[in-house]
Amino acid sequence: MTGSRDARAGELSQLADAAAVCTACELADNRTNVVFGSGTVDAEVMFVGEGPGQREDEQGLPFVGPSGKLLEQLLGEIGLTRAGVYIGNVVKCRPPGNRDPRPDEIDACKGYLRTQLRLVDPKVVVTLGNFASKLLLRTGTGITRLRGQAYPWWGRHLVPTFHPAAALRGSARVLEELRYDFSLVKAVIDGEIDSEVPDEAAVVAAPPVPEPEQLDMFG
Ligand code: URA
Repeated sequence: MTGSRDARAGELSQLADAAAVCTACELADNRTNVVFGSGTVDAEVMFVGEGPGQREDEQGLPFVGPSGKLLEQLLGEIGLTRAGVYIGNVVKCRPPGNRDPRPDEIDACKGYLRTQLRLVDPKVVVTLGNFASKLLLRTGTGITRLRGQAYPWWGRHLVPTFHPAAALRGSARVLEELRYDFSLVKAVIDGEIDSEVPDEAAVVAAPPVPEPEQLDMFG
C-alpha cells in the first residue's frame, strides 16, 4: 500500500472529482450521474460489479436498487456493513438499456478501477456476476464454473460470485451459492485461506504475479 490513510483517501476523492466530469467514452452522453464507487478506503473487501443500472445512474451510487439490498443482507450475514467495504463497478456510467459495456468503454474506464484498487488495497476483491468475473480473471469460463473458490489475484484474493440480481431472478440455489461465496470472503479476511498456496484450478485462471508498473488487470 502506498501513502498514509489520509493521503489515499484524498487521492480517491480527487479521482472521484475527475471521474465526475469524464467524457472519455460515449457513455458520458446519456448518463445522469457518474457512479464512481462508495465505501471506505480502509476496506478489506472491495466489490466490483459490471456497471450502474437505472437507479444507480439516478442516484450516483452503486448497488442502490434491489440488488444492493440483497448485497447488504449478505454482507450483514458475514458481519460486514456497506460502510465498511468498498463498492465499485467496471464502468462508472450506465450503459444504455443495461447492455454489457463495450471494449472501448472498459478501456476508457479501467484506469479508475485500477487506481481504486491500488488506493483501497483490499485483501479480497469480490466480482459480482459473469461479466466482471470473466474480465478480471481474464478467462472465458463462466461464473457458474468459476465461483466457489478464492483465486490468488495480483497479490490478493479474488472471489467471483453471482450477481445479486441473479439470485433475485433465480432459484434458491443461486442464493445459497452466493452465501457460500460470501463465507469464503469471510474466511479470507479471517486469515483462514492462505494466499501462498493457490490450488490447481486457481493457477489455471489466475494471471502471474506482475511487476507493479506492468499492472493490467483487465484486458
Ligand atoms: N449492477 C451492477 O453491476 N452495478 C451496480 O452498481 C448496480 C447493479
